[in-house]
Amino acid sequence: MLSKRACSGWKPFVLCLPAIFLFAYMLPVLELHRHSSVQYQHKEKPKKSDHLVLGPAAGEGLPDRLQCQGTEALNKTSIRTFPNDSQSEDLVVFVTVFATYNSTVDNGVNGRPVDLVTVGNTSYDKVERSMAILDVFINFIQVTMPQSDIIILTDPASELQVDRDKVTVHPIQGEYSRDKLMLQRIRSYIAFLEIKLEEQHQRQGQVRHYIFTDSDIAVVNDLGQIFADYPNFDLALTFRNNKEQPLNSGFIAVRGTAKGILRAKAFLQEVLKVYSSKFMKASRMLGDQLALAWVVKSQPSFDIRRFTRREGFVDEIGGASVLFLPCSSYNWTPPEGAGQFHGMPLDVKVVHFKGSRKRLMLESWNFLNSSSSSDISDMLCLILKSGRAKYDF
Ligand SMILES: *[C@@H]1O[C@H](CO)[C@@H](O)[C@H](O)[C@H]1NC(C)=O
Ligand SMILES: *[C@@H]1O[C@H](CO)[C@@H](O)[C@H](O)[C@H]1NC(C)=O
Ligand SMILES: *[C@@H]1O[C@H](CO)[C@@H](O)[C@H](O)[C@H]1NC(C)=O
Ligand SMILES: *[C@@H]1O[C@H](CO)[C@@H](O)[C@H](O)[C@H]1NC(C)=O
Ligand SMILES: *[C@@H]1O[C@H](CO)[C@@H](O)[C@H](O)[C@H]1NC(C)=O
Repeated sequence: MLSKRACSGWKPFVLCLPAIFLFAYMLPVLELHRHSSVQYQHKEKPKKSDHLVLGPAAGEGLPDRLQCQGTEALNKTSIRTFPNDSQSEDLVVFVTVFATYNSTVDNGVNGRPVDLVTVGNTSYDKVERSMAILDVFINFIQVTMPQSDIIILTDPASELQVDRDKVTVHPIQGEYSRDKLMLQRIRSYIAFLEIKLEEQHQRQGQVRHYIFTDSDIAVVNDLGQIFADYPNFDLALTFRNNKEQPLNSGFIAVRGTAKGILRAKAFLQEVLKVYSSKFMKASRMLGDQLALAWVVKSQPSFDIRRFTRREGFVDEIGGASVLFLPCSSYNWTPPEGAGQFHGMPLDVKVVHFKGSRKRLMLESWNFLNSSSSSDISDMLCLILKSGRAKYDF
């Protein structure tokens, strides 16, 4: 059952025999068990790991997947920079919604223990952890896309301050409580696009494209190229071969022309409408993704079988030209168990540290920044080998 789901639809993996799959699946489980039985002898269930657990690198022997020897990459990727001198002056701006924790409430000072997590040589409480993730999100963009600005949309009441080069905090009124955050996020995106639309009248020449992302991602290669490679889309989404949730809401790119912004805004307004009317009861993390999929699938001409393929494609959805990019390259998530991507494509551009993978995000940055001999490709090997474990935050 698992192997069927993991393999179906991905033509190059017709050789994905259950035996190979089982082998690849068992090893990290054993590895995890070995570690946890040493550490937590008195507990029945293994705790989430508080240190990196290196397993085998998925995709071994596949010609289009990253090959690793230890944490050394045998395939080195170079960062494609955009814009280059000759072509255009377009810029990419990253936009993320960030809700601060309330340290009085969330760090439990009233008699409850403060739960500290140590990564490298630094201990973080809950509030510090979320700030560390934001910091590392910024670090990666400044390494791979140093020309890019970063805009953080947040609750005016949070009084968030981020003192970093090329980073701006942009307060937008709204309800940023945890249980309404996904709904608020779409609202904030729409409000932001409205502001940018008004500014279009004063702007000339240089186009600023927007990429809205979660802040638990690492941008590991230049993303500006999509705007040149696919010159006609208004907005871009990332898709995967998953029936219930084919679209991930953690990455939405918007072409920074008046037309692109206008159409992306209308598209998101439709998603917001569907979210509010159909999916308010969905788990607080899923409503926006269900609404996204609903809007796309309700386009009568849309062929959902395209989500089983690996290539990007463009389709018209309710008046907008939407580019669908494969999650395997633009929103790659460490496999955690089943290994749905069978390794890491050589052209991976975004790694998404969803759920219990946040430790891995900080460890990855520490790895990249600590040793002069390691580069991004080596770090990708570290991520590929460590990604099957569930970590402590
Ligand atoms: C990646 O590295 C492996 C091992 O060195 C090599 O066999 C393979 O051809 C490389 N792949 C590409 C696309 O260069
Ligand atoms: C800029 O990009 C174009 C098209 O991708 C390429 O042909 C050209 O060689 C690049 N120039 C530089 C200086 O990298
Ligand atoms: C944090 O929570 C406390 C206690 O509920 C409240 O008084 C305070 O206003 C909150 N601070 C912010 C910034 O929301
Ligand atoms: C932690 O501290 C030790 C000893 O001071 C040092 O050797 C090591 O490089 C530090 N590790 C990190 C990740 O900063
Ligand atoms: C990278 O490491 C250096 C030396 O350990 C440290 O001073 C610097 O703050 C680190 N950079 C970031 C962005 O964390």
